[in-house]
Amino acid sequence: MTRLGNGFTANGDSGPTERHNGSNGKMVAFPVNGANGNGKSANGHAGNGKVAHESHNGHSRDAESGVRVGVVGCGYWGSKHLRVLQTLESVASVKVIDSELSRLDSLARSLPDGACFASVEEALPHVDALVIATPPATHAPLALRAIRAGKHVLVEKPLATSVVSALQMIQAAEDAGTVLMVGHTFEFNSAVWKMRELVESGALGQLYYIDSARLNLGLYQGDVNVVFDLAPHDISIINYLLGAEPTAVDAWASRHAHSELEDVAYLRLQYGTMGVEANVHVSWLDPHKVRRVTAVGSQKMAVYNDMAVEERIRLYDKGVVVTPPNELTQPPMTYRYGDIVSPHLEFREPLLLEDSHFLECIRTGATPLTDGQNGLAVVRVLEAAERSLYERRPVDMSDVADASALSLTMPAGAQ
Ligand SMILES: NC(=O)c1ccc[n+]([C@@H]2O[C@H](COP(=O)([O-])OP(=O)(O)OC[C@H]3O[C@@H](n4cnc5c(N)ncnc54)[C@H](O)[C@@H]3O)[C@@H](O)[C@H]2O)c1
Repeated sequence: MTRLGNGFTANGDSGPTERHNGSNGKMVAFPVNGANGNGKSANGHAGNGKVAHESHNGHSRDAESGVRVGVVGCGYWGSKHLRVLQTLESVASVKVIDSELSRLDSLARSLPDGACFASVEEALPHVDALVIATPPATHAPLALRAIRAGKHVLVEKPLATSVVSALQMIQAAEDAGTVLMVGHTFEFNSAVWKMRELVESGALGQLYYIDSARLNLGLYQGDVNVVFDLAPHDISIINYLLGAEPTAVDAWASRHAHSELEDVAYLRLQYGTMGVEANVHVSWLDPHKVRRVTAVGSQKMAVYNDMAVEERIRLYDKGVVVTPPNELTQPPMTYRYGDIVSPHLEFREPLLLEDSHFLECIRTGATPLTDGQNGLAVVRVLEAAERSLYERRPVDMSDVADASALSLTMPAGAQ
């Protein structure tokens, strides 16, 4: 199977300035203009968090002047990063790097002289950090090049198209002492934070299952299939909601309009440690645009509809009650219909929070909430899904390549 990727709008979204950290449930502040942070290095990287900058005469200058950021790949999604980064006070300058010269030409018209580059190689001396928003298969080689040159990197989803590549990126960033972050935009989305709160607090009762659907007509991508393109969002959301990773993955997919890339897929993720299953349906071949996550519990059901203009989350006081076997005069099941409540969600654009967080991690040396390990967790599921498709069986996550694969594929000192 060839892998591939498109983009979909992680809707400009709302959000409080705080959120839960996916792994430890800690509340984390989101400064938007890099004016916050505790300055502590959670990962032991990037020492004092200072960033060296090139001055007009080529000498380095101090971090206080801001970070010079390059956006690699200025297509559909990269152009959104460009817009957001241009608004951030902590950014000293934004360069764009795109291998398509016609695109670069049109961007050059609205950017200062010297802001456009046709390759990462040419841009590296002029930037401190890169946001990589190119097709998925290019993420690892571009990121590794930048990391090995000592640059901080935010890589769009999926972090990489193989577990081994993701591990190489994590190792390289660790060795270089640079920040590595993945663009799991939905983990910066207030609706997703609210869903997690509902799941975590027990408001739904015992969680039965999660269902996620991301459907549309197109956009077909050129280098990965619909699983690698769209499912990273669902996997990252569900891992975040449950604070866990799947223990087994089963996938079914089919090709219709494209001869080589699967355009319709279903994944079944088993979170064995929690006794919960999640179903993910992704499609480029559906008449309706659907972006919906449903969490069904024994007491209530929560639906996050990212297409809704208002009431993106609805909490349904609905359920099914089984009649005790000795009550023969009653129907075997009774249904409970109660109120439908829509919690208030503050508006804050997730991409703005994400890019601000990246800048803040560069400044303070803190580990990003969506760090390399967070990206790796999603890539592991994608790889398991790919294997499941080929082998037509559920794949246990313990069978998916891990650190030992890295040492097998990389000679000592290869970094
Ligand atoms: N986080 C999100 O919500 C979200 C949404 C959409 C897309 N994405 C991700 O963003 C990435 C880009 O997707 P897109 O839809 O913007 O694609 P796109 O095709 O619109 O843009 C990709 C751009 O990268 C350029 N490019 C390709 N190879 C390059 C290279 N080696 N060096 C420099 N430039 C290169 C292309 O010329 C193009 O301009 C993908 O990884 C995708 O999964 C994320």
